[in-house]
Amino acid sequence: MEKLTGLKKIKTAVFISGAGSNLKNIIRFSKIKKFPISINLIVSNTHLAKGLKYADQFKIKKKIFDHKNYNETEKNILILLKKEKIKFICLAGYMKILSKKFIKKFDGKIINIHPSLLPKYKGLNTHSRAIKNKDKFSGCTVHYVTAKLDSGKIILQKKVKISARDNSVSLKEKILKQEHKLYPAAIKKIFN
Ligand code: GRF
Repeated sequence: MEKLTGLKKIKTAVFISGAGSNLKNIIRFSKIKKFPISINLIVSNTHLAKGLKYADQFKIKKKIFDHKNYNETEKNILILLKKEKIKFICLAGYMKILSKKFIKKFDGKIINIHPSLLPKYKGLNTHSRAIKNKDKFSGCTVHYVTAKLDSGKIILQKKVKISARDNSVSLKEKILKQEHKLYPAAIKKIFN
């Protein structure tokens, strides 16, 4: 990954579909002088994403791509990314799977946060699966995005203890807290 030159931050887009707590957290970190990236664009596949409010709050450009034809959509996203000179993408709860073609255009420049200790529990419903299996630990992982779902190289991972009282909601909250530390730490690790 390219090193930082001077204080120039790497222009980054964050892709979301939901609450956007990771988005908000990354935006906050991006305001720190030495943090390597700036958030210049927020992309969502739905106007229902609550996290879109952070675009207004922090005055960041947002764009919603909710068309049925996802192939067309990806082409349009790529055009916008080029126009905005975006060099790095953080997926933060983005519920669409990016195509091989798209990933190739941003090879090694897309990362994702996943709420499990990958390679365990790829895909959805990670918290309830961990509870159901009576796991003692779960956690979160920041990894590079490749064509194979949730399988790219791991950048950082954090373990979270599951207590007997936990259910999928409490576990989600516990893990989210750690996600908010892990995602910025992973970004720093990549660029510093
Ligand atoms: C997080 O749990 C993240 O790990 C997963 O989607 C959730 C997004 O939460 N990929 P938020 O929208 O950032 O609050």
